Amino acid sequence: MKDYIAIAIDGPAAAGKSTVAKIVAETLSYVYIDTGAMYRAITLKALQQDLDLNDEAAILELLLHTKIELNKQEKSQIVLLDNEDVTNDIRTSEVTNNVSYVAKLPKVRKEMVERQQALADNRGVVMDGRDIGTHVLPKAEVKIFLVASVDERAKRRHEENLKRGIESSLEELTREIENRDFIDSKRETSPLIKADDAIELDTTSLSIDQVVQEILNEVNRYFNQ
Ligand code: CDP
Ligand code: CDP
Repeated sequence: MKDYIAIAIDGPAAAGKSTVAKIVAETLSYVYIDTGAMYRAITLKALQQDLDLNDEAAILELLLHTKIELNKQEKSQIVLLDNEDVTNDIRTSEVTNNVSYVAKLPKVRKEMVERQQALADNRGVVMDGRDIGTHVLPKAEVKIFLVASVDERAKRRHEENLKRGIESSLEELTREIENRDFIDSKRETSPLIKADDAIELDTTSLSIDQVVQEILNEVNRYFNQ
């Protein structure tokens, strides 16, 4: 048995994936890989260049000439797009509302999946996204599928925005989340879906600590089997 494993965390928008994935990675001294940030980064660049987001050939060409890096800092992670720090720029509502159109392009996904698999090679990783357990790391030893009611997820995003001093409307956030979940779940290539061997956790009334503990329990179960 290896002394490190891969942990795949998937689920819809604002289910708490990145928050718990970061803590689990920190606890285990594993690498955390935020695959959503990669799709967000290429979406930002495509928007900056005014590209048609449905033009698969153009977006793929752009991606092939784009460097996306996820760098760990003291307590957070920064995202570099062609060496430029875009950590905050990829979280704007413009990027959020367009990312799913870019992420549904099959050739873009294929390139992204290859990059993500290379990042995970031969190390302990916690990777979060939509297709990690099904396509990126189908052999991940621990697979978690996080869900929560859409009202709870919109409320969490709303509170997060308030803390950051960003104005937002709960109704609009709910619509945005529902729309993104719909596109992500209905696309043909590697849609958002629970892997058969993933453990589903409904976090609607769970604290972050409780979710982290559930995942660490699964990790312990794997090593003690
Ligand atoms: O954090 P949040 O749930 O808002 O989204 P994210 O993880 O940053 O992902 C942004 C978008 O990227 C998703 O809505 C998907 O369209 C896409 N994505 C994907 O298709 N596959 C992944 N593995 C990760 C993200
Ligand atoms: O990565 P994803 O989009 O799935 O969600 P996130 O950005 O990690 O979490 C959205 C917000 O929900 C964050 O502000 C968390 O602090 C909060 N939250 C959570 O992640 N898990 C809970 N059980 C409760 C709240």
